[in-house]
Amino acid sequence: MSRIAYVNGRYVPHRAARVHIEDRGYQFADGCYEVVAIRNGVCVDAGLHLARFHRSLEALKIKPPMGDAALMTVMREVARRNLVREGYVYMQVTRGAAPRDFAFPAGIKPSLVMTARRKTLIDPRLIAEGIKVITVPDLRWNRPDIKSIALLPNALGKEQAKQAGAFEAWQVDRDGNVTEGTSSNAWIVTSTGEVVTRRADNAILNGVTRQGLIRVIAEAGLKFVERPFSVAEAKAAREALLTSSTNFVLAVVRIDDAPIADGKPGPLARRLGDAYSAYAASGGQDR
Ligand code: PDD
Repeated sequence: MSRIAYVNGRYVPHRAARVHIEDRGYQFADGCYEVVAIRNGVCVDAGLHLARFHRSLEALKIKPPMGDAALMTVMREVARRNLVREGYVYMQVTRGAAPRDFAFPAGIKPSLVMTARRKTLIDPRLIAEGIKVITVPDLRWNRPDIKSIALLPNALGKEQAKQAGAFEAWQVDRDGNVTEGTSSNAWIVTSTGEVVTRRADNAILNGVTRQGLIRVIAEAGLKFVERPFSVAEAKAAREALLTSSTNFVLAVVRIDDAPIADGKPGPLARRLGDAYSAYAASGGQDR
């Protein structure tokens, strides 16, 4: 089956999809994006993604390319045309194309691109075995809360993880605290059973899966705390997890050379993974 992309108002064959060489996304990483999970053919927590998208656009002073209802229509249509029942939609807006100039060119029109891809979001092997992470210094700018397409430090960290045989790299701030993964949020479970993740300040992206899991944790009546945790605390934790729209909830069973507890996925990771899957299956908070 040939894939279809949406590019500035047209649905085109993926291999023929093009943007201008002076698009500011290409030259300055001047844009933002969303990755929206599709489960059972439905966009998971589309409302939370759109809210975050607007927050990023506002921070970058880029005008929304179209209204939310139209964005939703294109998202669904891209998923439909690519026969994606399980996978994700990638949606990217840049400030647009103009002769290269650091300041914002006047009268520039934002570029909007969407693609969709099939992906197993709940991978039985990853759930059964858990995943390994390494730790790397957080080399990013001071606004990782903006879902910007400037992802070079994230790509470098992920490649380092891959070379080390790990699934993800947890980025660590100057105080020795974990900020987040290169493309996921980081969590631990303490010896007293508290589920801990960093507060969504400017140092991390406020993950949509993170927000959904917080809801799921509250509904399950579990203890939850938002605070920083150090690499040492994570290595000594009862359990560790990560969350993202492309993998939902995964147990972290090793951080660098330290196995987490007995080195197998723990009971809370399994329980939260199952509960989040049920939440996502019904569309998330828009249920
Ligand atoms: N990344 N932190 C970072 C730096 C991320 O890039 C992501 C998601 C997350 C998790 O956010 P969410 O739960 O909304 O997916 C946290 C996506 C999946 C990506 O760039 O492919």
